[in-house]
Parts: sequence; C-alpha cells; structure tokens
Amino acid sequence: MGYFEQYTGSGGEDFRVFFAPGRVNLIGEHTDYTGGYVFPAALSYGTWLGVRPRTDGRFRFFSTSFDKQVDIGADELAYSAEDGWSNYPKGVLWMLQQEGHAFPGYDFVFHGNIPNGAGLSSSASISMVTALALRDLGQLPLTTIDLVKLTQRMENQYMGVSCGIMDQFAVGMGKAGQAMLLRCETLEYEYVPLELGDYSLVIINSNKRRELADSKYNERVAECATGFAQLQKQLPHVPNLGNVNAADWERFQEEVTDPVIRKRLEHVIRENDRVKRSAESLRQGDLLAFGDYMRRSHESLRDLYEVTGKELDALVEAAWKAEGCIGARMTGAGFGGCTVNLVHRDQVDAFKRAVEEEYRGKTGLHPDFYHCEIGDGAREIERGVEPCPFW
Ligand code: GLA
Repeated sequence: MGYFEQYTGSGGEDFRVFFAPGRVNLIGEHTDYTGGYVFPAALSYGTWLGVRPRTDGRFRFFSTSFDKQVDIGADELAYSAEDGWSNYPKGVLWMLQQEGHAFPGYDFVFHGNIPNGAGLSSSASISMVTALALRDLGQLPLTTIDLVKLTQRMENQYMGVSCGIMDQFAVGMGKAGQAMLLRCETLEYEYVPLELGDYSLVIINSNKRRELADSKYNERVAECATGFAQLQKQLPHVPNLGNVNAADWERFQEEVTDPVIRKRLEHVIRENDRVKRSAESLRQGDLLAFGDYMRRSHESLRDLYEVTGKELDALVEAAWKAEGCIGARMTGAGFGGCTVNLVHRDQVDAFKRAVEEEYRGKTGLHPDFYHCEIGDGAREIERGVEPCPFW
C-alpha cells in the first residue's frame, strides 16, 4: 500500500504528486532581507506531496513524519500553535484565500527527507510544494515567482518570521547542478554552474537545536532596519542596506550610534561584496578563492553578526583544520543547524572521521553528514517518469 492510501484510506490513480527541494546557501547570509545578494542552490532532498481534491470543502493534512493530523473547513485556516507542522500548508491556503481564491477541499499527504530545523529550508519546501499543487490543481494564473513571493508573505504574515526571500526563491527556482546568484531587491538572478572539479560539497548537521531562533532572527532584521535608518540620513538616495557600498560605509558608519548595530551593518555590507566576488571566482574555477570567501563569511557571522554559537563554530573550526577541506561555513539562519564544506573528493572519508572526532570531543554532540546533489526546483512528479516514494 502506498503512502496516499495508507493515510487517506483510498489510493488509486487519481491523486497527483508534487515535489519541492530544500536548499543550501553557499554564501550571502543575512543579506536577503536587506535587499542584498545571496548564492543558494536547491538540494535533491525535499518534500513530496500527494494531493487529491475532495468535494465536501474539508482540508485534511497528513505527514509521514509527524503523528499530528488535521481535518478542518475553509473557515478554520487561521494559525493555531496546536496544529504544529500543518500551519505551513494551512498558511499557504489561508494566503491564497485572502487573495480571493476558493478551493473545493483537499487531502494532502506530505513525505520529506530534509532534516527539520537544520537550516536547509524544510519550511520553505513544504510551503512551496503546497503552493505549487494548489496553483496547478486550481489552475490559478500564478507564475513560479508569484508563488515564491506568496510563500514568503505567508512566513512573514502567518508564521510571524520576518524572513527574506532567499529560501522560497531557491526552492522554487533551483536547477540541477547550478547555484543561483540572486539580487533580492529586484529578484534579478543568474544561474552559475556549480563546477567543483575534484571537490565535493559536504553538508554537516551540528544537531544543535535551534532555540529561540525565530526571535533572535527577527531581532537581527530589526537591528538592520534601525542602523539603516540612521545611515540613510547621509544617503537619502540609497533605497536599502543591500545597496550601501563599501566606500559610503567607510565614510558614514559613525552615523550608526550603537556599536552593536554598527557591527551588524558591517557584516551585511562586506558579505554582499563577498557574494559577488565569490560567484566570480566560481565562474573562473578558482575554488581556493571561493573557499576563502566562505571562511571569511563564517568569521563575520561569528564575530559581527553573532549568529553562530559554540557548536557551529566548533564544527567549522574542525573542518578548517581537516586535510582536504578548502572552505567551510555555517549555512542558513544560524543559531544551530548545518555547515557547508568544500572537501577534496579523495579525502572525504578522512575528513568525516577527523571532524566527527573533534566535534564530538568539543561539544558531546554527534554530527550527521549528508551526501546530496544539487537538484531541480519545485515541480510535479509524473507517474512512471521520475522515481518517487509515493509509488
Ligand atoms: C533564513 C531565512 C532567509 C535568510 C537566511 C539567512 O533561512 O529564511 O530568508 O535570511 O535565514 O541568510
């Protein structure tokens, strides 16, 4: 029996399956909500959704990872803490409903393989797969970029997280083997082939729980807004922090009165610069330079933005020391979660052993290593064409 039948009580051929990946950010952290640059890529890990319309206006949500099941009507879509994980798909329905769309009711069965809360965008993945399914089943006149913006609005307004647009964009627009250089202010983007030669991308989960991550995240967003408002007195024509260049920053940084906020801005402005430079080094095949920018990004997130914490620092330091590793940094929001590492492919096994031993010794935690490919963005999975855990 397949998942769809197991959870809904009836299978058959009349349900459709959609997929949205997770993402890893190569560089450009805590820059998206300032309108700056990011450089993420979609993963082959992700969330599958089996979905079938109902005729009674009910929405039923099932997940193969969580026991909590929810069965509600169209007037019960408001956020409710007790609905747990299902607030993400509920929130997408709620947003679309707010924007004038109506639905017949659906059975949704979710199955995913992205570790939750690890900074690989499991929430953007579940939101995007829902938005895509609702768009296609309801034949709504929305582009993928519309869905990217919609799912970000949902996180902001429904989940109360002031996130930028990087995760939703990467999950919606990813391409196998390619990273995306995205300017968040305008959503201009370009694909850059992730040609790593003799190197492999290794993602490591610190397995540190992300406590209070949402409130600390929102605090950083607010700090950037406060600092930029002060800076803008000297730069009235600059629309956002992501557009402040290094020369203007050097001239006017004293405008920012709070030294902590000044550090936050220093991070954002230098990180934006690193993103553009590192994308250029990747294009030129200069992986050593790319790895060096990764290292500097982590140091800045540790010292200036203060979002790493002792576990991520220990994991990255262990990687920097290990032979064959030319770059390592935290990825995602921080406060726990994953690191991304560039490791010579002949030395991956030795690298894993060395990092595991050192990290365990320093923190008592066991790291998980992921081997996943850079995959395509959100899409429908055609029966019999692409392998899928639903059949
Ligand atoms: C989270 C947010 C993104 C971005 C990163 C930090 O993943 O959802 O919008 O701000 O943190 O770069």
